[in-house]
Amino acid sequence: MTIFDKPLPPTPVLETRRLILRPLAPADAPVIQRRFPRWEIVRYLNPRVPWPYPDDGAIRFIEICQGEMARGEKHHWSIRLKDGPDELIGSINLWPDDGQSRDMRGFWLDPEFQRRGLMTEAADRVTDYAFRELDWPHLWVSNDELNRPSARVKERQGARLVGFEPFRSVSGDGRRMVWLIERGAYFKARATAKTSATRPSDTPTNQACI
Ligand SMILES: CC(C)(COP(=O)(O)OP(=O)(O)OC[C@H]1O[C@@H](n2cnc3c(N)ncnc32)[C@H](O)[C@@H]1OP(=O)(O)O)[C@@H](O)C(=O)NCCC(=O)NCCS
Repeated sequence: MTIFDKPLPPTPVLETRRLILRPLAPADAPVIQRRFPRWEIVRYLNPRVPWPYPDDGAIRFIEICQGEMARGEKHHWSIRLKDGPDELIGSINLWPDDGQSRDMRGFWLDPEFQRRGLMTEAADRVTDYAFRELDWPHLWVSNDELNRPSARVKERQGARLVGFEPFRSVSGDGRRMVWLIERGAYFKARATAKTSATRPSDTPTNQACI
């Protein structure tokens, strides 16, 4: 029995400076159906995502999520802006290490809200929760090698690139980057980022990397 074999507690509400993360709920289905089915969102995701996206895609997805949350298998959160309309603008999830898949977290954000550091903020809160409240020692995470924004979120969290392996995304055959985020490296990376953020002279200049 390892720490990852324990069922997860009920999905908690989490907050950040700009965001509220709430357990995904049936009421979120119409917004997901409106915001999610776009090529720029789905192209690098796992092909379990049905594409073209069916009319009942969001309702069916939320039914699956609710079962997983009720059984303590996964957390699924809607991402909402504190100072925006009270509706989902993206989603993030988290699940224990199964010893094989080397993947424990997923996320997407409506393009209208991308490039403002919002997913970094959401991913940090969820990672804090995994390390502090669930007491997990590490997170395996991965992304299609062409998915630079997703890789950047990981780099910013002190993730260590472990390797590349064959991967099929919604776009077709390619490779995925497999990363390991270890608790100590994560807290060190975040502490450094916070210190830098308070010093204007340290503003990163590598914003244009793709
Ligand atoms: C991946 C994703 C969630 C990132 O969300 P986001 O809120 O834009 O991310 P952030 O604003 O926190 O930015 C993280 C980093 O990615 C960079 N970035 C964001 N969008 C980018 C883009 N289109 N091209 C290049 N870099 C980009 C940011 O500049 C930032 O890097 P920096 O720290 O060097 O400035 C978003 O692009 C998305 O939803 N993509 C579609 C779904 C998806 O691919 N999910 C991940 C599957 S593994």
